[in-house]
Amino acid sequence: MAQHIVLRMRRELSGDIEQPVWPTDVVCRTLGTKPDKRDAKAAHSVLEAGFWEGGGGAPIFRKWWPQLRKDKEFDPALVFLAVQGKDVIGMAQCWTSAFLKDLAVHPRARRRGVGRALMLTAFHAFAGRGARYVDLKVREENANAQRLYRELGMAVVARESD
Ligand SMILES: CC(C)(COP(=O)(O)OP(=O)(O)OC[C@H]1O[C@@H](n2cnc3c(N)ncnc32)[C@H](O)[C@@H]1OP(=O)(O)O)[C@@H](O)C(=O)NCCC(=O)NCCS
Repeated sequence: MAQHIVLRMRRELSGDIEQPVWPTDVVCRTLGTKPDKRDAKAAHSVLEAGFWEGGGGAPIFRKWWPQLRKDKEFDPALVFLAVQGKDVIGMAQCWTSAFLKDLAVHPRARRRGVGRALMLTAFHAFAGRGARYVDLKVREENANAQRLYRELGMAVVARESD
């Protein structure tokens, strides 16, 4: 597999955290305590659609879902779905270690503040669990995502190879 340089970015969670603002036709929910496979598939689809042009990658659903569910850091309450009508148009999947593992918004739903609202929702969830900071990794060439993260107060704390 190709090696990528990734930046580890961090934001402290002390102090006020801006409230997420969702577009009026979008609601947010989590995967739920007994995750429905249809929801999991919809979340995976948006991840695939989000990443098809680069920025990251995801294994096929058949591998992704069992791996995710058995991970000791998995919590369905930390999988945030942005839903428009019946469609999942964005997702943020986080680990219990206050790490934001994956963020993706469907290409047709971008630049409406969904990514930003997903991030802020995750920040509040981690702060509510007592985390001192939130971390993520982003590919060095993914300037659009880095811009979003910087606007949300995240800063690079390490440069690593993936
Ligand atoms: C990164 C991503 C999640 C952003 O989602 P989004 O819903 O479009 O983001 P928002 O509308 O909340 O954008 C917030 C800010 O991020 C920055 N940004 C997001 N997309 C951008 C783009 N294409 N070009 C420049 N800046 C961009 C801007 O600063 C934007 O604010 P603005 O619209 O007021 O200028 C989305 O582009 C995506 O899914 N990309 C592919 C997957 C990916 O790279 N995920 C991150 C992996 S670490």
